Amino acid sequence: MSMNFAPLKNDTFLRALLRQETDYTPLWLMRQAGRYLPEYRATRKGAGSFLSLAKNPGFATEVTLQPIDRYGLDAAILFSDILTVPDAMGLGLYFEEGEGPKFERPLKDEKDVMALKVPEAGSLQYVFDAVTQIRTALDGRVPLIGFSGSPWTLACYMVEGQGSRDFHTVKSMMYKRPDLMHHILRTNADAVATYLNAQIDAGAQAVMIFDSWGGALADGAYQEFSLSYMRDIVSQLQKEKDGKRIPAIVFTKGGGLWLEQLADIGADALGLDWTMNLGQARAKVGDKVALQGNLDPAVLFAEPEQIRKQVIATLDSYGKPAAGHGHVFNLGHGISQFTPVESVTVLVETVHEYSRQQRQSA
Ligand code: CP3
Repeated sequence: MSMNFAPLKNDTFLRALLRQETDYTPLWLMRQAGRYLPEYRATRKGAGSFLSLAKNPGFATEVTLQPIDRYGLDAAILFSDILTVPDAMGLGLYFEEGEGPKFERPLKDEKDVMALKVPEAGSLQYVFDAVTQIRTALDGRVPLIGFSGSPWTLACYMVEGQGSRDFHTVKSMMYKRPDLMHHILRTNADAVATYLNAQIDAGAQAVMIFDSWGGALADGAYQEFSLSYMRDIVSQLQKEKDGKRIPAIVFTKGGGLWLEQLADIGADALGLDWTMNLGQARAKVGDKVALQGNLDPAVLFAEPEQIRKQVIATLDSYGKPAAGHGHVFNLGHGISQFTPVESVTVLVETVHEYSRQQRQSA
């Protein structure tokens, strides 16, 4: 499958991921299309719910472009959710107002686990249609990121049936019945690899794996139950599409202690949360991978002058960019729904201005 999309006008984000030189540090924000934007809240009200937004390619396109139209961000990210994959596996995703995501049919026992299958491509067609529609609507302004959850992070929701503080149920299964847990993770890994490759076919120009709960695992368990499956996915991904490299980003929240091991799984870039110092991370990974991150989203609740200071400190912690290294500015986790919209303007302007100055200084 090959489609005719407009040529890319701003490839700064892709260049940074591939550790090529850039004129400035590109940025995008995790959850950049979301409830902190009044235009998102208006579209969501019209659509009725988050899921009706995500399952309708027209709405998904509209909200994906909202932060791009408002701010000078350097990448767009598909508007969807990591839980579309278990939903397509038949677990029944739903949201209750004011609460997080839940599943009607979580994996309770051996029978549920053994019945789990990689979903048929058709059950996620609405996602691939959204990717193609968004890429077309972007008209080459910035690249489009596709994404998925990591096998472990998906398993957390699939076994718990909802979010969790201590992951008691899923960790109990992991330690009591590692065979069942490996069966879930094996199925998830194949589902995610197929899903991401289909997003690439549909027009995604980079892909990201969100391992939001990898940091909840003990050392040892992390390598066995999360890292190894992400390595497997990365090895299954198409590396090129229509002659262009498709970079892969892996983000384990709370994964700073495993940075060197993460740098060895074949990804092009690693996402970092705010607990890491970017310069120290850069020294550890060398020229193996680019880095993405890592401002604490809570900084955006401060005054403009304080936001500027923290953004500059983050850029300074990475240090002066050089060939063979790459930095994509981002938050250390998703933007809060309570973030003032003006704070993001200050953030975007400071990253772009200061990172240009950084490159000019001796
Ligand atoms: O970054 C983007 O703008 C793209 C869209 C995106 C969403 N979810 C939209 C969304 C992405 C990349 C995700 C990933 C996701 N979803 C993750 C991994 C990243 C992370 O934050 O760790 C996880 C764990 C989920 C599961 C999920 N979906 C949760 C926990 C929630 C509730 C969050 C909340 O703040 O209430 C969702 C719902 C969700 N996904 C919203 C959005 C914009 C809020 C929906 C709404 O009520 O309008």
